[in-house]
Amino acid sequence: MLIDFFKENFFFQNLAASLISRIPCMVEHNLGKYHVLKKAFYLTALEQLEGDYLEFGVFTGSSFIFSTKVHRSLSYLGGQKTRFFGFDSFSGFGDIHEHDKHPFYLNNIFKVNKDKVIRNIKNKTQKSETRIVEGYFNETLRGKKASDYGIEKARIIFIDCDLKEPAREALAFSLPALQQGTVIVLDDYFSYKGDSTLGVCGALTEVLQGFPGIKLREVCPYGYGGIVFIVSSLEGSNINEKS
Ligand SMILES: C[S@@+](CC[C@H](N)C(=O)[O-])C[C@H]1O[C@@H](n2cnc3c(N)ncnc32)[C@H](O)[C@@H]1O
Repeated sequence: MLIDFFKENFFFQNLAASLISRIPCMVEHNLGKYHVLKKAFYLTALEQLEGDYLEFGVFTGSSFIFSTKVHRSLSYLGGQKTRFFGFDSFSGFGDIHEHDKHPFYLNNIFKVNKDKVIRNIKNKTQKSETRIVEGYFNETLRGKKASDYGIEKARIIFIDCDLKEPAREALAFSLPALQQGTVIVLDDYFSYKGDSTLGVCGALTEVLQGFPGIKLREVCPYGYGGIVFIVSSLEGSNINEKS
C-alpha cells in the first residue's frame, strides 16, 4: 500500500518540507491577494454590479494593474463599465500615529520612484479608464467623500495601506459609495497581534460604528492575514445623510 511506502521512505516528505518552507511568504500572500481580487471581480460581474474599483495603497501598481486585467478578462460575463481609482503617496505612510507603530510597517519600505510607477501603470492600463490620486490620505481623502472624485458607486474597495489611520480615512471616504454587493478586500486585517481595535480591523470597526444598518458578510480570509467582505445590506444605514 502507498501508505506503507511513505512510512519507510522519507525522500518525498523531506523534499516537500525543503521546497515549501522556502517559498517566500510575500509570494504566497500576493498570490492569495490576486486570487481574491479575481474572485471579487467575478462575484460582482455575475451580479452585473455597476461601479468603480477603488484601491487605497498602490505601491508599485502590481495589484492595480492586475485588477484592470482581470476586469477585461471577465468581460464575457457582462462587461459592465468600471473605472479604476488608485490612491497613494508613493512615499509611504507619512507621519505614523502612536497607535499605528509596528515593527514591520515602516516608511522606508514603501518609498518608490513615483514617476516610473505611474508611467508603468499608464502604459499597462491603456484600455481602461484609470485615475491615480497622488498624496497622503490626510490631504487627498480627509473631509472628502467619494463623490468629490466623481465616484457614485463602488464595485470593489481594496484597502491595502497597512495602518489604522490611513485605512480609516479610506473607509470613511468610500462609505457613501457603498451599495449592496460592493466587495471590500482588506489586507493586513489580523495584524497588531490580533488586537481588533488596532490596524485595519480597528479602522473598519470604528467607521462602521455610526452605521448599524451596514451589514457585511464574510466571503473569505486570504493570504497571510487578509479578509474579504461583501455588503449584504444597507437598509436604514442613511450613509449619505450621515457621512
Ligand atoms: C502594501 S503597499 C500596497 C501594495 C499594493 N496594493 C500591491 O499589492 O501591489 C501599501 C501602500 O500604502 C501606501 N500608504 C500607506 N499609508 C498611506 C497614507 N497615509 N497616504 C497615502 N498612501 C499611503 C504606501 O505608500 C504603500 O505604497
